[in-house]
Amino acid sequence: MTMVKETKRKPSRQPKKQINRSSFVHEDSPTYLVYTRRKQRASTVAASRKYAVEFVSGAKSIASGWLKTFSLEKAVGFGLPEVDDRYHIWRVPLVKSGTKERIGEVVIDAYTSLVSVSETTAPDVIEARLLGRNPAEKLARCTSGNSTQSLISFVRNTVILGDSEQALLDMPSQSVDLIFTSPPYYNARPEYEDYLSYESYLLKMRRIIHNCHRVLGEGRFFVMNVSPVLIRRASRNEASKRIAVPFDMHRIFIEEGFDFIDDIHWVKPEGAGWATGRGRRFAADRQPLQYKAVPITEYVLVYRKHTDKLIDWNIRNHPDQRAVKESKITGEYDTTNLWRIHPAFHSEHPAVFPIELAKRVIKYYSFKNDVVLDPFAGTGTVGRAAASLSRRFVLIENEPKYIKIICTEMPDWLGAATKDVLFVGCQTPDTASILL
Ligand SMILES: C[S@@+](CC[C@H](N)C(=O)[O-])C[C@H]1O[C@@H](n2cnc3c(N)ncnc32)[C@H](O)[C@@H]1O
Repeated sequence: MTMVKETKRKPSRQPKKQINRSSFVHEDSPTYLVYTRRKQRASTVAASRKYAVEFVSGAKSIASGWLKTFSLEKAVGFGLPEVDDRYHIWRVPLVKSGTKERIGEVVIDAYTSLVSVSETTAPDVIEARLLGRNPAEKLARCTSGNSTQSLISFVRNTVILGDSEQALLDMPSQSVDLIFTSPPYYNARPEYEDYLSYESYLLKMRRIIHNCHRVLGEGRFFVMNVSPVLIRRASRNEASKRIAVPFDMHRIFIEEGFDFIDDIHWVKPEGAGWATGRGRRFAADRQPLQYKAVPITEYVLVYRKHTDKLIDWNIRNHPDQRAVKESKITGEYDTTNLWRIHPAFHSEHPAVFPIELAKRVIKYYSFKNDVVLDPFAGTGTVGRAAASLSRRFVLIENEPKYIKIICTEMPDWLGAATKDVLFVGCQTPDTASILL
């Protein structure tokens, strides 16, 4: 697994423009005024360029995530981040904590919000400067060969209450090894009517997939369980409508930097789809043109974060070769893209997927101790499956009632390890009873 990769700068999308700095920062200005105006300038420029990273706080948060990856966050503070719209980057100065001594900078691609490793001060150099060593010597000792270094993610089991679009911004780049999720349905049920239009739904999904791309390791997999949705007719004179969500999702994945790998079909037992009402009219009348197939499948779409490297590279370059060996899939396995699995039901959530589905995905697309992310966690099925297969998990869910289910059920599937889980934006469950 790769924690950090060299990022290629996206080609300029806007004509380059020279900034007249003197119009914003006057030499005689009091310090606080200079600071405020620079900050304002940065946000104004970022907004007009439609950068993904619009504010100083966002740039700091990404830099902070990057520092955490190398456990440097406590020793390093920040100077004032500045946007450079000639190169479409943010520069976040790094200082020795509690001092003004500059020890490097983090450079962030303003459009993608990825840390540009080639322009960012190397962690080894930062460490050497903190310790007062000669960084050149240290760097010479540490850089061997030209391949990207793979690191084990520092992320521990985490449950986050919040909108995943925002929550993902606080996660370190390339800190996740697999993403498996099923997105919220567009208007499939009254409780999901959160979107003004199908386009606004897709835009939200795009922003989340975009942010997932940053946190996923190079060449690792994003698997999505998704199916067409049925919009019921409003009256007898209207037809119901089916929206082919998976095909729109496919386009988003490709445009956001993923390569298509597989379309797996989760097949449910016959009879499973009868409740949708589809096909009943034909069953009664047997009229041509009225035929409608009862849907008993869902897509499990498999994408890989784009890289020029082969999958073999991910396996050989994994930092824990023992985990690679121990993760081999022995015995029977799914040889085709038809996976027959019974659906699951939860008394308090209308759209859970079966743990068996999550287990198969995790087993085929990750190694032991890898970090599996579900940005639409619901009741936490992915967490349960990950834990049962000795993987770590990050669960993000924006509905407090579902987070409550995760917290209540977690001690049953994670036992005493529940006390080591990081809960963000929600209360740590009471683990006193299970620790006795
Ligand atoms: C299809 S359900 C996932 C169910 C889950 N696979 C399970 O087995 O429990 C989608 C979930 O995404 C949540 N959700 C919707 N929008 C979200 C967002 N922006 N951020 C985080 N969670 C979101 C919904 O509350 C819902 O629980």
